[in-house]
Amino acid sequence: MKYDFTSIIDRTGTNQIAVDMIPIPNAVIQDGFSKIPMWVADMNFPTVPTIQEEIIKRVQHPTFGYYEISDEYYDSIIDWQAKRNNVTNLSKKNISYQNGVLGGVVSVANVLCSKGDKILLHSPTYIGFTGALENNGYKLIHSPLLKDENGVWRMDYEDMDKKLKEHKIHCAIFCSPFNPCGRVWEKWEIEKAMEIYEKNDCFVISDEIWSDIILNGNVHTPTQSVSDWARNHVAAMYAPSKTFNLAGLQGSYSIIYNSWLQDRMLKEASLSHYNACNVLAMHALIGAYKPEGHEWVEELREVLSDNVNYAYDFIQENFEGVEVSKPEGTYMLYLDCTKWCEKNNLSIDELQRKGVSVGVVWQDGRPFHHPCSIRMNLAVPHSLVIEAFDRLKKYVF
Ligand SMILES: Cc1ncc(COP(=O)(O)O)c(C=O)c1O
Repeated sequence: MKYDFTSIIDRTGTNQIAVDMIPIPNAVIQDGFSKIPMWVADMNFPTVPTIQEEIIKRVQHPTFGYYEISDEYYDSIIDWQAKRNNVTNLSKKNISYQNGVLGGVVSVANVLCSKGDKILLHSPTYIGFTGALENNGYKLIHSPLLKDENGVWRMDYEDMDKKLKEHKIHCAIFCSPFNPCGRVWEKWEIEKAMEIYEKNDCFVISDEIWSDIILNGNVHTPTQSVSDWARNHVAAMYAPSKTFNLAGLQGSYSIIYNSWLQDRMLKEASLSHYNACNVLAMHALIGAYKPEGHEWVEELREVLSDNVNYAYDFIQENFEGVEVSKPEGTYMLYLDCTKWCEKNNLSIDELQRKGVSVGVVWQDGRPFHHPCSIRMNLAVPHSLVIEAFDRLKKYVF
């Protein structure tokens, strides 16, 4: 490989929560075990060097005055979307900077909803949606994903249709690829979902922050690409932050083709006077979306596919009673431990603490709206995935 995905980098002393925090209450790592950060959704790999190069180049100029986002920023996004997602007909006027995807989601929701309105989401549900939308006074209606006979999480279209009607919902969140279950929706699944939304006059906020992290040869389909209706009724959210590990730098963007929705969203996003791009975040995106960034992402996908394949097979072979569907995208494993906990007479809290006690710092899956579950981040060097699963086999499961 051209880039480094094997070094174990020491992230301590950089204020990064992945290594500074343990998200499981009362959990302590026993002496003799190193910490393996496998929870919050960021990565333990050095990012593509062109990002640092761009930032350093800018930092060497000693003034940091008021500035405007450059055409190079917008052109980089247009080029990235064309090459990775086959998106054509995208122009600068459709792209807007968003401090974070969640901020963008809230701005669009504020345009489409009145106070206290209901919004449809699928469950399990990314914890960030729950926090951001409830914090803004919206009521969340969940349509549970169901596992088919092959253990693949699927949308329940009948249930979506019923709930949209019953609750008079006109704004839905669509997460593609899906965090935490790792589904990369097939085109027909997205088409079918959009038909249901269209039938119910329901605008869609499509969170595609994970769209670059697609594993094992799966293919991402942009939601807006599936029909003319979708192009005009879907606000899509993207970011280099998940792909290139830039969460600490901030910087996401939306793509909206409907000029009414775009203008209203911009107005809404402007109200706080906080939604402004840091000059270094602009340069980070430009550095990320260079040809080297494409190469780096290709290698990242290979590394993460190997990690996911290894972890999935290991669980099937060794952890009877732990159920997991193989992620097709993202680097998250969502473990259903219901049967294992029942069989072993251990609570999910005890199980989670046991994992942390041997240095596997994983995350409680219950706040993602699924009982007795654990979310696990596999964006660590392969040697650490092997180490973590060995420890889990020997001391935990
Ligand atoms: C589906 C999804 N959306 C949004 C975010 C957060 O995005 P941001 O930090 O840009 O608000 C995450 C982070 O894990 C995520 O998984």
